[in-house]
This record gives sequence, structure tokens and C-alpha cells, in this order.
Amino acid sequence: MERGRRRRSLKQYEIAVLPGDGIGPEVIGQALRVLEAVAPRHRLRFVSREHPVGAAAVRVAGDPLPYETREAVRRADAVLLGAVGDPALDGEPRQRRPETGLLALRALLGVYANLRPVAVHPALMHASPLRPNRLTGVDLLIVRELTGGLYYGEPRGRTADTAINTLRYSTSEVERVARVAFAAARTRRGRVLSVDKANVLETSQLWRETVTRLSLEFPDVTLEHCYVDTAAMRLVSAPSGIDVLVTENMFGDILSDEAAVLAGSLGMLPSASLGSGPGLFEPVHGSAPDLAGRDVANPIGAIATVALLLRHGLGLAEPAVAVERAIALALQRGARTADIAGPGETVMGTAELGGCIAELVCGRTITV
Ligand code: IPM
Ligand code: MN
Repeated sequence: MERGRRRRSLKQYEIAVLPGDGIGPEVIGQALRVLEAVAPRHRLRFVSREHPVGAAAVRVAGDPLPYETREAVRRADAVLLGAVGDPALDGEPRQRRPETGLLALRALLGVYANLRPVAVHPALMHASPLRPNRLTGVDLLIVRELTGGLYYGEPRGRTADTAINTLRYSTSEVERVARVAFAAARTRRGRVLSVDKANVLETSQLWRETVTRLSLEFPDVTLEHCYVDTAAMRLVSAPSGIDVLVTENMFGDILSDEAAVLAGSLGMLPSASLGSGPGLFEPVHGSAPDLAGRDVANPIGAIATVALLLRHGLGLAEPAVAVERAIALALQRGARTADIAGPGETVMGTAELGGCIAELVCGRTITV
């Protein structure tokens, strides 16, 4: 080392990148661009290697989650995924379907808590079909149970004229995801809304009892229960009254797409899936095959996912905030893809919007 000049070393992280199908590779391309752009100012270095998943993996390896990918994600510090799904494989047996690869990946990593934050940027109120007065103050977090319920329950299967899926939950599965929701509420507005169907389902009765018992450990958090049908209505009639919403796997899947309407587009939403090992980070939107390869997809969901990867996956709050500020600033300055453009606003392509956010994240003064 030179005398008098201490060189602080870069902190290095390995990111396993799984672009997947449809618009996945395009939006992940922009997400990586922003990750590279934010790195130097925070003295970080990211080593990212790409691996196949979904239909792309079925094509190269005959398996939607090949051995190579399984090994790589386990060794990584965090996993960044684009999207999986391809209608061309709809008729294939379950082991060869892209979605099976995603479910196997979630199970392999044990990422039982899926965080889906939903906020409304003031400049995008026009993009939602809801009236602006309903959107003011919307800032909610959906915590979706991700490794249990109907998606994984056995027995499952079908014959020509019957089909079966199993909905099963244990108290420990409910407890660990509810704990994540209560802990998150403590850092927010201190309220948890637990969503179930306890008037009909035994699994929901167990869910409600377990969440109520756990709430005693969090006396500073207010707990409210509500049925899933009512929750669906409240999400669009009074969304600003919801802080943290916690629910089982399938209810969470459905309610999070509904909540996307608040943000103006499904293309806006990021997600973080956490367990005890490396986290899995993916935008909420799917592979959108009709948009793929046309440079029209909204990269913001994927770029906001990078912020969650930094914060929750690597414990790096500062660069996470820098990415979120760059997104907000780009929106404030009128940067839009087609899904969020208002009348008369100029429409950008995927790469142009990604480039704009990457530049803002390097900017010397980002004050929003
Ligand atoms: C999601 C998706 C997935 C899910 C599909 C692609 C299996 O809709 O992440 O919300 O249902 O979990
Ligand atoms: Mn979904």
C-alpha cells in the first residue's frame, strides 16, 4: 500500500442472475445496469453470473430448474430473477412447466416470506383507474406466505374427470411468516391486517388463532383480522388504511395483482422473498410474452427489485435508497414506458428508461 494513502477495499457480492422467459431478460438487463451504476459510489463490486430457469432452461436442459442453477443459487449472496412462463409449454407435463421451476426454486431456498411493497408515486396517479382521493396516502406492504398452502400441498393430481389440491398449514409455518409481518409493521405504521377465510376453512382458523397468539409478542403493533373477500374490496375502496397485510400463499398471489392497480401498473412492483439463506428477488409481473423482445416492457419493477435486493438481501440500506430515489426522480421528470404514460406524455422504451435511471443513480445530487 502506498504511504499516506489508504485504499479502502471494495466489498464484493456474488449475485446469481436468472433472467428466465418473456420480458425477463430485457428488464433484468436494465436492473443490472442500475446495480452496476450504483456500485462505485458505495464502494461495492457485484459479480453476477447468469443461469437458466423456466422455459429457457427447459429448452437448454430439459428441466425448468437445472442442477447447474440449483448449485449456483445456493452459493450466491442473493438471487435476482426476471420472470418465468411460456404459453408454448402450457400442454407439457408438470415437471417440464416453467412455473414448476420457480416453485422448486422458492422451496430450495426456503424463502417463506414474500414482501410486496405497494406505493403510489404522485406523478402516476393518472395511471390508476381509481380516483386520486382514494390513492392519496397509499403505502402498504403485502407479506405473502410463499412455500406452503395449495401450491405445495400433497396429495395433488388429476384423472380425466377429477382433480385434487391440498391446502395444509402448520402453526410453525404461520408463525414464521407472521413474525416477519409484525417485525415489518414495527418499522412502519404499526398495523397488521391478517387475511383469511376463517368462516369457512380450518386452515384459516388455525391461521387466525396462531397470528392472534403471536401478536402478544408485539404489544406495540395493532392486529386486525379480515376475510379475503372483504380484503379484496378494501384494497380498492380504502387502500390507504392498510399498512402491512399478511396472508397465505394463494390469497397473497391474487391480492398482490389487485394491489398493482394502485401503483398504476403491474410493471411497477418489486418483491423480495426471504428465508434463512440467500434471498430471491423478482419483480411481481410475469413473463408477459406479448410484450417480449419489443423494448416496451416497464423495467421499474425489476429496478425497484434491485433496491430490495440491496436492502434485504445484502443489508445495504444506502444504495437501496439511492436506487429508489433515482426511480422517483425519473418519474418526476416524466420518464415513462407505455403502461404508465398519460395523455400527451412521451413514451420511452425499456432500455431508454433503464438508462435514464442508471444515469440518475450516478448523479452527484439526487434530491427528491
Ligand atoms: C407470482 C406468479 C407466480 C405465483 C407464478 C408464475 C407461479 O404469479 O410470483 O405472483 O403464482 O407465485
Ligand atoms: Mn402472481
